Amino acid sequence: MMKQLLTPVALAALFAASGVQAQTVLKIGYATAVTSHYGVGSTTFCDEIEKGTQGRYKCQQFPNSALGGEREQIEAVQLGTQDLVNTSTGPLGNFVPEVKIVDIPFLFRDYDHARKVMDGPIGQDLSKKMEAKGLVNLAWTENGFRHMTNSKRAINQASDASGLKMRTMENKVHMDGYKTFGILPTPMPFPELFTALQQGTVDGQENPIPVILSSKFSQVQKHLSLTGHVYSPAALILSPAVWNKLSAADKQVFLEAGKKAAAAQRKKVNDDEANGIAQLEKDGMQVVKQVNGESFRKAVAPAYQQYAKEFGADKIAAIQAVK
Ligand code: PAF
Repeated sequence: MMKQLLTPVALAALFAASGVQAQTVLKIGYATAVTSHYGVGSTTFCDEIEKGTQGRYKCQQFPNSALGGEREQIEAVQLGTQDLVNTSTGPLGNFVPEVKIVDIPFLFRDYDHARKVMDGPIGQDLSKKMEAKGLVNLAWTENGFRHMTNSKRAINQASDASGLKMRTMENKVHMDGYKTFGILPTPMPFPELFTALQQGTVDGQENPIPVILSSKFSQVQKHLSLTGHVYSPAALILSPAVWNKLSAADKQVFLEAGKKAAAAQRKKVNDDEANGIAQLEKDGMQVVKQVNGESFRKAVAPAYQQYAKEFGADKIAAIQAVK
């Protein structure tokens, strides 16, 4: 007997006639564990789109950098070979230069300030710049304020950080700032970091508490200093290849799901900030809680002249002025 193959159009018609709906599975990637802040935000997003589209869309999650480093994943989303990435802005400036401004050290006063800026007109404007580069920002999620860890000594002030070889993100704004602290910045994709710390290729690294916790850096780093030297925003980015196929109603579902994901991810950052430091102490880390922030701010002042030239003093001031 001859087998009859159905064309996709015939298949869709068959689904429609039978009342069974076609299902699209979207691949979402991020750097840390499914239980981490990125995992909590991504899971919320996935649950919401599945509910909101009555199961027509669902996700397959790829935590723990299973789809590569953040830079690779952003590129894949831009190309349409990956559907979604929940990523820090660290490598995003390499695709959308205007975004680099939000990675300036000591730009944001605290979480309230940072979230207000990212959710307000400045953040919306940056999302538009991303769209022009083939990246649909569904929401500003969050990585958190970054703190330093190392295997050599306690960092109480900027001069203590001087001479330490530290892994940084592939982000020139960070690197220029950290050089003013005397740090020797060593850019490296995150998936290589644990081994580099374990083998002593670098002395330290800097990341928010949720990353330090979920990546178990307490196993390979003795000292943690709550430097909070830079806020690390994150974005939930969808490929235009998917976005352009969505109906207007589904676009709304995705945007609402993005908002809920951002809220859940930020709440997890809050919870980890509140409870994670005690956990890291229990795990054996020595924590400096009262860091001399002024010594870091003073040190970074010359880099601000460079930032003003690159981004415009008025743009930096506009972010600082948000209340
Ligand atoms: O350090 C980094 O590269 C980022 O903070 C991380 C851990 C990938 C999360 O965005």
